[in-house]
Amino acid sequence: MLSYRHAFHAGNHADVLKHMVLCAGLQHATRKETPLFYLDTHAGAGQYRLNSVEAERTGEALEGILKLDLQSMLNAVSAQSKQMLESYISTVQPWLLRKQYPGSPLLAASMLRRNDHLHLFELHEAEFSMLQRHMQDDDRVQMTLADGFKNSLALLPPVQKRAVVLIDPPYEIKDDYIRAAELAARIHGRMPGAQILIWYPVVRRGDVGRLLDKLRHGSIRDLWQFEFGLKPDDEDYGMTASGMLVINPPWTLPDVMRECLPLLQQALAPLQGHWKVENLLAE
Ligand SMILES: C[S@@+](CC[C@H](N)C(=O)[O-])C[C@H]1O[C@@H](n2cnc3c(N)ncnc32)[C@H](O)[C@@H]1O
Repeated sequence: MLSYRHAFHAGNHADVLKHMVLCAGLQHATRKETPLFYLDTHAGAGQYRLNSVEAERTGEALEGILKLDLQSMLNAVSAQSKQMLESYISTVQPWLLRKQYPGSPLLAASMLRRNDHLHLFELHEAEFSMLQRHMQDDDRVQMTLADGFKNSLALLPPVQKRAVVLIDPPYEIKDDYIRAAELAARIHGRMPGAQILIWYPVVRRGDVGRLLDKLRHGSIRDLWQFEFGLKPDDEDYGMTASGMLVINPPWTLPDVMRECLPLLQQALAPLQGHWKVENLLAE
């Protein structure tokens, strides 16, 4: 039984981190002219209203994207970071003006080109029909109502030969930590050059440790961790922080995140916030 609904969380601090890193990755990957394949293993509904009952019940976007002065952040970073940060900001801004927030499929679709292709998996029927509604006019997109863990590998390697893959499960089930790591390792085995992004929540630090251990004990190289938290770890609190693990990130991304994460901390959690940029496996 799937109970996770992203509408409660859209635009929170974890989405900001995840989508900032995703847009930076896509911005870099689309510098080459050759077509790109984007795979979203857990796509969600694609788009969310920030004034919905769900969003207003948690107020998470108010403590996330809506708390940020995006223009000041852009003004505060170097030219190199500006390009990557701008890819996120200029993509979300039109939605924010309509009191909406784009999910990863729409962010990716906005950044990809005419010859690129997107494949989206979503297992929840109601989320899938919303996703279909939001993406139906885009003939670059294929959507499957199916388990992204089980079905993604069959699409790889794609004809485009270059891929960016987002693995973003809800982690309702503890197994998701291990399944995310196993899927990333198998994708990497099949496409060593693919950029693979795994999002994780910090609820119990031990679960994140198991995900990292699993990734470390394989053939993966060039693995980076980008983490941002509102509070120190606290197992009684719920999600205190979240992170993105990226295999084959753009080479400039670590420096960009070293500039952007302190700005997020300053804006969202100046007293107890924390951030981390770490190379877990060298190239
Ligand atoms: C965190 S949300 C995705 C958010 C989206 N990637 C974004 O950034 O906008 C996770 C989604 O995965 C879906 N889901 C859960 N288990 C799944 C599975 N095994 N395969 C595909 N989708 C799944 C949930 O219904 C939920 O919509």
